[in-house]
Amino acid sequence: MARHLITSALPYINGIKHLGNLVGSQLPADLYARYLRARGHEVMFICATDEHGTPAELAAAKTGEAVADYCKRMHAVQSELARGFGLSFDHYGRSSSPQNHALTQHFAGKLADNGLIREVEERQVYSIADGRFLPDRYIEGTCPNCGYDKARGDQCENCTKQLDPTDLIDPRSAISGSRDLEVRTTKHLYLRQSALKDEIAAWIDSKSDWPILTTSIARKWLNDGDGLQDRGITRDLDWGVPVKRGTEPWPGMEGKVFYVWFDAPIEYIAATAELADKLGEPDAFWRRWWRLDEGAEDVTYTQFMGKDNVPFHTLSFPATIIGSGEPWKMVDYIKSFNYLTYDGGQFSTSQGRGVFMDHALELLPADYWRWWLLSHAPESGDSEFTWENFQTSVNKDLADVLGNFVSRVTKFARSKFGETVPEGGDWGGRERALVADLAERLRAYEGFLDHREVRKAAAELRGIWVLGNEYLQAAAPWATFKTDPHAAAMQTRLGLNLIRLYAILSQPFVPFTSEAMLEAMQTGDRDWPADIGAALTILPPGHAFTVPEVLFAKITDEQRAEWEERFKGVRS
Ligand code: 2FM
Ligand code: ZN
Repeated sequence: MARHLITSALPYINGIKHLGNLVGSQLPADLYARYLRARGHEVMFICATDEHGTPAELAAAKTGEAVADYCKRMHAVQSELARGFGLSFDHYGRSSSPQNHALTQHFAGKLADNGLIREVEERQVYSIADGRFLPDRYIEGTCPNCGYDKARGDQCENCTKQLDPTDLIDPRSAISGSRDLEVRTTKHLYLRQSALKDEIAAWIDSKSDWPILTTSIARKWLNDGDGLQDRGITRDLDWGVPVKRGTEPWPGMEGKVFYVWFDAPIEYIAATAELADKLGEPDAFWRRWWRLDEGAEDVTYTQFMGKDNVPFHTLSFPATIIGSGEPWKMVDYIKSFNYLTYDGGQFSTSQGRGVFMDHALELLPADYWRWWLLSHAPESGDSEFTWENFQTSVNKDLADVLGNFVSRVTKFARSKFGETVPEGGDWGGRERALVADLAERLRAYEGFLDHREVRKAAAELRGIWVLGNEYLQAAAPWATFKTDPHAAAMQTRLGLNLIRLYAILSQPFVPFTSEAMLEAMQTGDRDWPADIGAALTILPPGHAFTVPEVLFAKITDEQRAEWEERFKGVRS
């Protein structure tokens, strides 16, 4: 049994996330967490809402709520949706927690003690029309790197370059669109990332097994030389973690808060501390996951995120950790994803384009979405959501293959033998061949999941389901029954045991369906199969079962057309 720490990139608090956000971090992280738990490993799976920064302030201003109230409400909304999608976080925290305040201030203090913070007189963009300093994200303009005309002041979402607002060409306020901007002087803290460049480069070089997508983005920013420029870590805002040096005030920094990207990744750690506090456990509970000197030496830590988050997780956050000089657990593997596009364009939160988590669950149960999203995870390149593709996958993979298998076996069994596992007959060559094929595919499936290869694992799982259908088709117990009822009983018994096996293997992908299958087989035995032959005899003759409700309803052409139309425009 190994110990696995898993974090998903923290979703911003403002608004409900779309399916592109979901498949870019939380969902594959959940797949991996569920798989590792099923294999008997000790897992700590952490996520949280990313609550600071201007997006939260502005979203709250729109609804007329105090920002703290807005965040509290939206955290509850996002938690509920996460539950609805079966995301099995051990804790879903909040970056505005007292634990994160304390830890963020702690890191800043250590960095200062180590000479890695300098104070900088900064000239900052002030919007006269808006009457405020404009945080980086709220300045829009043209990217000097790629020419994209809606780049934000912190980062260009087109080419992922981290930017400074003053880099933008033709800058304007994203709040009012005003170009009446002026630059005023104010003092800020800078993290001397440049001093850590060699150490971070060596650390990245040591990660030879990371996905190319991750290392190529990391190396690009390292080698372009500007990815590790010293970076401002404070902002002139009311909402955020107040700037302190550990627990001490920081002279000259009154009224300022830490930059959201400074405190957000620290929340991975702080959320684990939140869990300890919630459970009434001592600090040792969370520190054994995060401190190398307190038990985390044997932890494997995997982060999941969209590619736009990679620079922050390969350069900035490691700079915070390494710069602290303390023995914090650093990430062992960064699994990053490309983008999911929607029907020929981008999913967009600001424009409300695409399918969002709440609407998705109104249309169909979570497992339909989980299966489509994971089996089309944008791993090697961007992938596209179309309603046609979604309909095809649901109908072909879920309804025709898995659902149909379960339905045929249970209905046939009930009609010929009643609602107990039938007795009699012995395995022959066909059954032994099936076991061998299953064993081979299972090894491949495990291998892909061990390596966090999401799409390949999905394809392998589907192959495992197909083997069951092929067996059923070839054995044809409905025909066998007429000439050799004992053999038909054996084939049916095997079929029922396959349902149990499929429930266990499919659980990481379709947990709700898996639960329904286990319930129908009336078993609590969820052990991951060590030996397929043995696993297929767990339900003995005489064991009671029931025929489950239809597991997956097919999506009709009418439904598809209706949804296509309904989600064509922008979210209302
Ligand atoms: O891009 C995003 O959605 C950010 N909220 C991710 C933060 S991940 C971590 F660092 F907190
Ligand atoms: Zn760009």
